[in-house]
Amino acid sequence: MDRIVIRGAKSLNGTIYIGGAKNAALPLLASCLLSEQTLTLSNLPHLVDVSSMAHLLAELGVSISMNGNAGGGGNMGRVFELTACGNIHTTAPYELVRKMRASILVLGPLLARYGVARVSLPGGCAIGTRPVDLHLKALAQMGAEIDLTDGYIEAKAPNGLKGAHIVFPTVTVGGTENLLMAAALADGKTIITNAAREPEVTDLAQCLVAMGAKIEGIGTDTLNIIGQRELHGADYSVVPDRIETGSYAVAAAVTDGDLTLKGTRLNLIESIAGILRQSGVSIVEVDDGIRVRRASEGISGVDVMTEPFPGFPTDMQAQMMVLMSVARGASMITETIFENRFMHVPELSRMGADINVHGSSAIIRGGVKLKGAQVMATDLRASVSLVLAALSADGETEINRVYHLDRGYERLEEKLAACGADIVRIKD
Ligand code: EPZ
Repeated sequence: MDRIVIRGAKSLNGTIYIGGAKNAALPLLASCLLSEQTLTLSNLPHLVDVSSMAHLLAELGVSISMNGNAGGGGNMGRVFELTACGNIHTTAPYELVRKMRASILVLGPLLARYGVARVSLPGGCAIGTRPVDLHLKALAQMGAEIDLTDGYIEAKAPNGLKGAHIVFPTVTVGGTENLLMAAALADGKTIITNAAREPEVTDLAQCLVAMGAKIEGIGTDTLNIIGQRELHGADYSVVPDRIETGSYAVAAAVTDGDLTLKGTRLNLIESIAGILRQSGVSIVEVDDGIRVRRASEGISGVDVMTEPFPGFPTDMQAQMMVLMSVARGASMITETIFENRFMHVPELSRMGADINVHGSSAIIRGGVKLKGAQVMATDLRASVSLVLAALSADGETEINRVYHLDRGYERLEEKLAACGADIVRIKD
C-alpha cells in the first residue's frame, strides 16, 4: 500500500487547478443508462471512483470511449463518450458495488429504462451504516416491486415506473439523484419534496434537461419532473469540485500561504467561504477561480455545524478540524449528517491536536503547533485532513493507506509539490 511522506511547516504559494466534482461525475456517468444515444461528459476527474463507475457501466454493457486533454491550460479533465444501447445487463455485482457504494446510482436508471435491476446492497462504510432505505421506499412509491435477497436489491417495474409525490424524511443526495433519474422516464409527473440541493444534484438535473428531461425547481428542495418516453444524447461538462476547492483553501490557510485555485467558482463554496472568512481567511474572486490567503490578524476559532446544502458540507468537516486545531482559541464542530465521521480525531491527536469528542460534537482547543507523526488514513476526507495537518506540522509525517485519498483527490502530491510542499509518495 502506498504511503505519503510530508515534511511540513512550509508555506504554499502558487496556482492549483481544480478538477470536475467526483460527486457529480458519478451520477452523471450513471445517467448514460437512460438513453440509447451517446452521452459525452467532459471535465471528468482522473479518480479511482470515476474509473470504478466506468468499470461497472462497462460490465453492464455500456460502450465507453475515453480520451482527455492531458495537457495545456491546466484543464486535465477526461472526456468520456458513453452509449447504453444493445444488450445491456441489469445486474450490478457485489464485487464491484462493495468497492464503491455510489454504484447504487445505477438502480434508478436501470429500473426506469429496462424495468428491472439487480444491484448488490452497498453495505456500510467507515463513516456510517449509510442505508439506502429511502431510495427503495421512493422507488416502490413509483410502482417498483422491491425484494432484498442474498444481499441484493431485486427491483422490477414490468409496466414501467409511475410518477408519484415523494417526500424524503431526511435530505439524501443519492436518494434524490436516483429518483431524479427514475422520474425522468416514468409515466406522468413526479414531485420530490425535501430534495437535496447540493450543486452535484443540480449538475445532474441540468444534464438530464440537456438530454431532454422535463425538470422544474432545479436548485430548490422541490423538484417537479414530467416523465418522457425517451431521452436523447447530450454533451455535458462536470461542475468543478467544491470539496477539492475547500480542501486546498484550507491548505493555504494552515500553511500561511497564498494559493490561487483555478477552474472553480466562489458561488460553489459560499458556506465554506463564509466560515473560513469568519475564522480569518481571506478569499477573493479572481478570473476563473479564487485566491486564498491567511489574513494578517491570523486565524481564530469558529463554531461549525455540518448541514445539507446550502449549509456547511460534511465533506469539509475533517479539513476544518485541522484549521481549528492551529487557530487561536477554542471551537466546536458538530457533525449532523453521519454517525461516525470523527475517525480523523485520534490520528490528529497523535500529531498534537487537542480535540475532545462528545457524541456528535468535537471541542477543539486551538493554538497548537502540530508535530509530524506516523498516521493512518481511514476514509477519503479524513485522509486529506491528515495531509493538511502534515503540511502545517513541524517535522515529518508519514500517512499510510493513501488509497483512500486516490478515490477523491487527483494528483494531490503533484498539485501541492508545485506550490512548494515537500511531499513524496512511496509505492510499497
Ligand atoms: C453523498 O453521499 C456523497 N457521496 C457523500 O460524499 C456526502 O458526504 C453525502 O452525500 C452528504 O452530502 C456521493 O455523492 C457519491 P446521503 P450519500 O444519502 O448520497 C442517511 C465523499 O466524501 N440515509 O445524503 O450516500 C445516510 O445514512 C462522500 O465524497 C438514510 O438513512 O449521502 C446519511 O446519514 C462521503 N437512508 C444521510 O442520510 C437512505 O436511504 C445523508 O446521506 C439514504 C441516506
